Amino acid sequence: MAFLFEPLALRGLALNNRIMISPMCQYQAREGIISGPWHRTHVGMMVLSGAGLAVMEATAVEAAGRISLGCIGLYNDQQEAALAGLVADVRRFSSTPLGIQLGHAGRKASAYPILDNRDGMFPADRSKGGGPLPVEAGAWAPYGPSPVPFDTHWQTPDMLDEEGMGRIKQAFAASTLRADRCGFDMIEIHGAHGYLLHSFLSRVSNKRDDAYGGSLQNRMRFPLEVVAAVRGALPGNKPLGVRINGSDWSPDGNSIEDAVAFAAELKGIGVDYVTVSGGGAAPNAIYPRQDPGYMVHLAEAVKRGTGITTVAVGTITSPVQADEIIRSGKADLVAIGRAFIDHPKWGWHAARELGVDWLPTGLQARVDPKYWPLKAIA
Ligand SMILES: Cc1cc2nc3c(=O)[nH]c(=O)nc-3n(C[C@H](O)[C@H](O)[C@H](O)COP(=O)(O)O)c2cc1C
Repeated sequence: MAFLFEPLALRGLALNNRIMISPMCQYQAREGIISGPWHRTHVGMMVLSGAGLAVMEATAVEAAGRISLGCIGLYNDQQEAALAGLVADVRRFSSTPLGIQLGHAGRKASAYPILDNRDGMFPADRSKGGGPLPVEAGAWAPYGPSPVPFDTHWQTPDMLDEEGMGRIKQAFAASTLRADRCGFDMIEIHGAHGYLLHSFLSRVSNKRDDAYGGSLQNRMRFPLEVVAAVRGALPGNKPLGVRINGSDWSPDGNSIEDAVAFAAELKGIGVDYVTVSGGGAAPNAIYPRQDPGYMVHLAEAVKRGTGITTVAVGTITSPVQADEIIRSGKADLVAIGRAFIDHPKWGWHAARELGVDWLPTGLQARVDPKYWPLKAIA
């Protein structure tokens, strides 16, 4: 029996299997508005892939919260109308649950898109690798918990006061209402990778001495307030997930104990799952090699420590590997990113490889090996 293809309910949302397509920035937006042709192709591919849930890329809740000028936003009517049109279009041919990741880039905003990352995260030619935008390229002022830049070449963020934090909380709630109106089935909040919410959680970036800094309890306060605001704005039948860091991989950063404590709080305020990722918080982080499933142990620790529905992510590429993660109880779902870009029908092939009697429908059913003597590619 394939555990990967066991159904799962997240609140009112029924998933056919435990495969989630991980959110992935596409850098194709203008003024935060999706690119019609690109996003219809990309999202269309995701909802025809056999995955149980597809989650759209990090989507900014205010203009200053975009990572780059190519990132999408959901803070004005034009952006909402374009996304609503996209959801309506893909709904004409697929009922695969579709979510959206809401976030705010914080002190890592105002950067070049990471278009070509073969030379490492921050290569000499910054226009390829996510480095900070210079003024002449349209830089804007980023926000953070403290006036501490991400790295030496980065802008010093404006320290958020309580008014600014209130504005951002409201922006998250407003974007949630917009996402609901667009027809998204669920929301994931980006609380990882050094972006705004995680920058409050992490010791690396939060140097505050008020009620929002210092102890873990204090550092969690703002992210938890944001999550509660989103939960409050989202209809009760729609699930809410949060992506967290299991480790910052920096001696000055957060570790798995912080992640377990945060996940326990999230569970208590009605979060339906956490995805356990890592890194992105500190330029001096020492990353582990991206061996297959290199972060699964972090998900396992969160699941064991809290009992929350947990998603493992990070170089999960083979169906047998994914199935083993679920079978062994290390996580409840797997999030898969690059393997779906490489192989847009990953879910179909996983079903076949694991011997699951699962058929694509409509015209696509004609590739079922039963009706197709040439059989599928390996
Ligand atoms: C092109 C690209 C864009 C990404 N954008 C996001 C994002 O918007 N939000 C996020 O939480 N993670 C993002 N990630 C991280 C992925 O969701 C995923 O965690 C990571 O790629 C590891 O999974 P994989 O080995 O299956 O690709 C991105 C990764 C890639 C490759």
